[in-house]
Amino acid sequence: MDHFDLHDGALHAEQVPLDAIADAVGTPVYVYSAATIRRHVRVFREALAGLEHDGQAPLVAFAVKANPNAAVLSVLAGLGCGADVVSGGELMRARAAGIPGEKIVFSGVGKTADEMALALREGIGQFNLESEEEARTLSKVAADLGLTARVAFRVNPDVDAGTHAKISTGRSENKFGIAYDLAPDAYARAAALPGLVVQGVAVHIGSQLTDLGPLETAFGRIGALIATLRAAGHDIRTADLGGGLGVPYDPTKPAPPAPSAYGEMVRRATAGWNVRLMFEPGRLIVGNAGVLLTSVIRVKPGAQAPFVIVDAAMNDLMRPALYDAWHDIRAVRPSGERFVANVVGPVCETGDTFAMQRSMDRVDEGERVVFMTAGAYAATMASTYNSRALTPEVLVSGDRWAVVRKRQKIEALIAADSVPAWALNEPTED
Ligand code: LLP
Repeated sequence: MDHFDLHDGALHAEQVPLDAIADAVGTPVYVYSAATIRRHVRVFREALAGLEHDGQAPLVAFAVKANPNAAVLSVLAGLGCGADVVSGGELMRARAAGIPGEKIVFSGVGKTADEMALALREGIGQFNLESEEEARTLSKVAADLGLTARVAFRVNPDVDAGTHAKISTGRSENKFGIAYDLAPDAYARAAALPGLVVQGVAVHIGSQLTDLGPLETAFGRIGALIATLRAAGHDIRTADLGGGLGVPYDPTKPAPPAPSAYGEMVRRATAGWNVRLMFEPGRLIVGNAGVLLTSVIRVKPGAQAPFVIVDAAMNDLMRPALYDAWHDIRAVRPSGERFVANVVGPVCETGDTFAMQRSMDRVDEGERVVFMTAGAYAATMASTYNSRALTPEVLVSGDRWAVVRKRQKIEALIAADSVPAWALNEPTED
């Protein structure tokens, strides 16, 4: 559920008309709803009721990669959320937003020694290690600093998550985690390394999951591994079950399982584990809390359907180009009339297509449309391809709104480059 609704014929973010934001800030612009973010955190926490350990609720560590905007992270910090980070940059963003180090989990296959040192100095709660090679590097970094790293191994359970291949992570051929069968030996060797305290297990099999079955299978394997590890003498206190629960993108399709069904499955799968559970939801928290607001530059006739050319492009929202992702497209002031159209951006690639032959609100030049469900993996995946400045972001709460990231200036983009004098007067090569 989100807070983007029609009032008096015009689409609003909570109580703010999207037209007011577009008039003030221009388009394209990302608009986030704080009430929607807060609601999703509450719903997810309610779904995890009964999973307390030693009187502590599970840690909800927001996957910063989904939306790293400082204002968004600050809202989540205010709600007591932790953070799942995958780079030094994300770690610094989470800390800057006020998320305490002990609520931060560091995931990712390629943590560098510098990033490890930064995370150790920030006193993060857990490193999710993805290889024994990484464990050895972390051991050395921690020992050199005289600090201790609390670690889990991310275990690859070899489960097909049934999602898009590019966002599936839990098959043995994927680059993520250590192989399930090799895990007991990896734990034994890691436990013997200086500077490391082995405290948990971690798993994450993919994103936008629409079926709980693969997750339950993966969690079952993790439960068995916890028993094996304990039998071998390891003090396993945490289990990080990752993120991955899907959100509805297409209102005409069956909705993915609700958080409550996910919580029920987790209660079933983890009964008797006796660990502190941790979760890393990203999309579930912010996906439906954002829209990309854009204007129609012009409508051009096409062979099968007209092309609605909008001022947002694949560089602003690359999910359709990258994953053939479906985003609902709605007019800001729908007339009630519908038509079938192709919605494209101005970038010079055929891949710059948001929708083909889409039945949608009829819109014409100068009108505004939104791409729904653009709060996760949207602004953060943008590029400046075609020398298009990065899109600004706005956060709404009730009847208040603020620009939470300024529109990038083309001048700033140009100024970031530098031209060595010799490039100007080099002789030609023919
Ligand atoms: N934990 C780990 C270790 C992850 O790799 C991810 C996402 C998450 C948590 C959060 O997953 P979520 O709850 O958001 O599904 N750019 C793609 C999605 C990539 C997801 C990468 N990892 C997209 O736009 O669909």
